[in-house]
Amino acid sequence: MYLFGLALVSCVAIASGQVTRDFDCRVNGCCDQHEFCRFWSSIGECVTNGNWMAKNCEISCNTCQSSTTSTADCKDDHRLCGFWKSIGECERNKVWMSDNCPVSCNSCGKTKSQPPSPQATIAISPAQPIQQSPPPILSNQLEPQAPLVAPAAPAPGSPQTAGSQQPPKITPPEGCQFISTREDTTSRRTVSVNDVTSSNTQFGCVSGVDFNDCQRNLCYHLNFRSMDGSCNNLKQTIQGAAFTQYIRLIPPVYDNGLSAPVSSIKGNRPTAREASRLLLASSGEVTSGNNALLMQWGQFAGHDLAKTTTLPSGDCSSCNDIQGRCFNVGLARLDPTFGKFQCLPVARSTPVCGTGASTPREQFNQNTAFIDGSMIYGSSDRDQFNFRQGGMMKTNVVGGRVFPPLDSNQNIIAGDDRANIFIGLASLHTLFVREHNRVAAQLQQINRHWDADRLYQETRK
Ligand code: HEM
Repeated sequence: MYLFGLALVSCVAIASGQVTRDFDCRVNGCCDQHEFCRFWSSIGECVTNGNWMAKNCEISCNTCQSSTTSTADCKDDHRLCGFWKSIGECERNKVWMSDNCPVSCNSCGKTKSQPPSPQATIAISPAQPIQQSPPPILSNQLEPQAPLVAPAAPAPGSPQTAGSQQPPKITPPEGCQFISTREDTTSRRTVSVNDVTSSNTQFGCVSGVDFNDCQRNLCYHLNFRSMDGSCNNLKQTIQGAAFTQYIRLIPPVYDNGLSAPVSSIKGNRPTAREASRLLLASSGEVTSGNNALLMQWGQFAGHDLAKTTTLPSGDCSSCNDIQGRCFNVGLARLDPTFGKFQCLPVARSTPVCGTGASTPREQFNQNTAFIDGSMIYGSSDRDQFNFRQGGMMKTNVVGGRVFPPLDSNQNIIAGDDRANIFIGLASLHTLFVREHNRVAAQLQQINRHWDADRLYQETRK
């Protein structure tokens, strides 16, 4: 969703005046003539429409005739350059990499290789006459080729990798000819929000997801983010994935070393309520030049990054301090607001199963840690159809106005189930559901060959 901007800008520009000549020119005379060059390149047009693109989108298609890469112009032409460098492709696949990933491979200003690598020539046909029309993005052309293998992604067994001592663990397969829009999750256990709720209730703990073999769905992962965030990092496959435990920067501090909250045994700190009542209470107003949207965006973005699973709160409502489950906050009688109550009931965060007994208790994030719109689209392939319908988001139309769908309690259904805790938050969820559908409708108009999965994933992207 955050990255749909490019496609969106493209859609809008089609209706308005586009720049079709000298859009982006380098000092060496190399130009992208058209403002859509980058976009076309990203959807594979350098390959599928090589002749026209090679002449008119020289920068985006890396077909500049200049023989050197000046340091000022030096840039990586592929988003996986950094990754390829990290798996040793700068050395193993030197010729292609220094031309196409000069920043990552530290080859800026060095003479460009001539001729280009055999695979690169697939994308470039300089001998062909220049067509006068732009690439047929507006026509019902066949599915464009995946940009991620074109023009010359280092492939296993290719001449460039021959002789390598250690083949990279993860390699873009040669078979990514078409954009893969579905992640095959049949070989691994994925978790849904309902699984978390029932494990929480039954066992008082939750188990995390397993390792994900990114090679299995690599064509998908190279184009789109997975629903649970696994394989966003191809090396640390479940780092930041939903339904995994939080990573700690420093060791935890528990009163008993394993699981008891600080001060729950030692009683050496004031309660959170006392701290807030005595230290933070003030009649003063904090002035700010910002409006409430700043706060609202903070909460919305926070819900993209984290949702700590908590144990069922009902157990704590009687103020019984059930060990390991509740951390009720005792109240001072003179507390002007809550003094008449016995406690503020607080359910503890759910432990990751197996922690807290002989190893320190660990907590669990049930949303993806990435800024990937998971509060809109959910964090599990098994939850997505609660709010998704084909390429669009499900909606509920009230008085001619579009809202997210409702559950039986009249709460809106969104990728994060806290969407209803405040009206401002619900309004941002509403805005993004509408925005998804608006962008998807426009993308569908100009890409009529896209099926529902492609439409959904491209819009989400
Ligand atoms: C209407 C305003 C808000 C309400 C009613 C609200 C309510 C809550 C509640 C009930 C929790 C769970 C606490 C717990 O169980 O321990 C929570 C957690 C949290 N809130 Fe808010 N909050 C609001 C605004 C914000 C804002 C403005 C931000 C950030 C700018 C924010 C950031 C967070 C974070 C980071 C968490 C922890 C999330 C997690 O790990 O699960 N909240 N909030």
